[in-house]
This record gives sequence, structure tokens and C-alpha cells, in this order.
Amino acid sequence: MARNHNLNLASQGTALKALFTGYLIVVAVGYLMAIVQIQLTHGLADGEYGLSVDDIVYSYYGNRTNSLLENKLHGSMKPMATDEEREKIISWVHAGATEDAYENDGIRQIFDAKCIICHNAEAGGAVPDYSDFQQIKERAVVDTGASITALARVSHIHLFGIAFIFMFVGLIFSLAAGVPKPLKVFVISMPYIFLLIDISAWWLTKLHPNFAWFVMIGGGAMALSFAFMWVVSMYEMWILPRIREDNRDALLDE
Ligand code: HEC
Repeated sequence: MARNHNLNLASQGTALKALFTGYLIVVAVGYLMAIVQIQLTHGLADGEYGLSVDDIVYSYYGNRTNSLLENKLHGSMKPMATDEEREKIISWVHAGATEDAYENDGIRQIFDAKCIICHNAEAGGAVPDYSDFQQIKERAVVDTGASITALARVSHIHLFGIAFIFMFVGLIFSLAAGVPKPLKVFVISMPYIFLLIDISAWWLTKLHPNFAWFVMIGGGAMALSFAFMWVVSMYEMWILPRIREDNRDALLDE
């Protein structure tokens, strides 16, 4: 009983199908783990469960309105100093809150005169000790999100790693015979295009928070193409051959 051997997923022998299937299952579990990991790191950046655009903004751009010192000087600590003194502290925060400027530009004098009465070592609880410069510094830094070093590290790992995963997922999927050529080319290219968009958007979000939307779109489109290639490949390997013999050539453009 001679059967035709065609270049498509359905007509491959069990050994190759087992290899492809094992690979597809393991990378799918890897993908799920990545999603769990994203939820647990970036997902909690805004203090709430679930990944949102705010999380991405906080992770890459940072929460720049939230230097505690400045917020408090506009809030509950407003009466503790004159407008002029508060302005001086706030400008110092914006200029990077260096210890040098703290000592030499009169900032220490303001803290000594207006804040240490309450913010001292004996106070405890919600009242940090501002005779310790480090305690002030921690509340003065503006959170600017992921560092360039961290971005460069995570970017190159993702570019190499994800390109590699989609190389094999795409190669398996290219043997699917039932997908019209334009759609197939689109789905195979999509992860690469959106990977570049996703990772460029991390860097751009550091410059402007609106780019966080591109991180969402890039990541979402990548996941979508992964799911599509996965389902179609599995279907053509295991379900289609039970329905009929497939004698199409998946690699020809015709
Ligand atoms: C009369 C006492 C008093 C003085 C004077 C005072 N604080 Fe406070 N400060 C408090 C108390 C009480 C809290 C905790 C309640 C709150 O956050 O409003 C606090 C909290 C803060 C916080 C937030 C808590 C944290 O984790 O750091 C900051 C920032 C702060 N003060 C800055 C200042 C600065 C700057 C000055 C001087 C210009 C100052 N305070 C003067 C009593 C004082």
C-alpha cells in the first residue's frame, strides 16, 4: 500500500511529528511561564494585579511625578517651610538631589531648621530620620524606570531568544498546507516585525509614556501569531490525516 509522501505536515511520519509536537508543547509552556513572569514583575508595577498600560509606563518610563519628598512638600508637609524654602528643596530634587548640592547650596540648613525637629532619630514610625542624608536621598530620587543597562541586557536576550523560537515555530508552520500563501507569509513575518516594534517601544517608552501602547500591541500581536501557528500546525499533524489524505505541497508558492 504505497502512500504518497508529500511536503506537508499531515503526510510526515510519526517520528518527525513527535519531534515537532514535543518542541511546540515545550515552547508553549515556556510562553505561559513568560506570561506568568510578566504578571508578577511588570504586572504589579502600578500596585494592582494584571498587566496594564500604566504598568508598562511605570516599568520603563518610571513614575516621575512620584518623588515622595516633592509630593509631601505640596501636601501634608506644606506648612512646615516657607514657599521659598520648599521651592529650593524641590529644585534640588529636580537637579538630581546630590549630596554635594545638599551640603553646599543651603539645602541642609533648611532641613536642619525646619524638618529635623520632627524628623530625627527618636521620632520613629512614619517619621523618617532626616539627619541621615540617605533617608532624604531615598525620598528625593525621581523614579525613571528601567536603566539603560537593564534595557540593553533584556533587549539582546529577547531579540536572540525570541527570534530563535519563531525560527522553528515558523519552519514547522511553513509545512502547513491549508493556509493561503499571503496569510502564511504574513503570520510567519509578524513575530519578527512585532518583536522589533515591541523592543523599540521599551526604549521609546523611556522617552515618552505613550509608547507603552506599542509595547502592548507588539507583545499581543506576537502572542497571537504564535497561537495561530501552533494551533494550525497541531491540527495538520494530528487531526487532518484522520479526515483525508493531504497531497498538497506546502512549500510551493502555487
Ligand atoms: C511638626 C513635625 C514635622 C515637621 C516640622 C516636618 N515633618 Fe515631615 N512628617 C511629619 C509626620 C508626622 C509625617 C508622617 C505623616 C505624613 O506623611 O504626613 C511626616 C512625613 C514626611 C514625609 C513622608 C514620609 C516618608 O516616608 O518620608 C516627608 C517626605 C516629609 N515628612 C518631609 C518633610 C520635610 C521636607 C520637612 C521640612 C521642610 C518636614 N517634613 C517637616 C512631621 C513633620
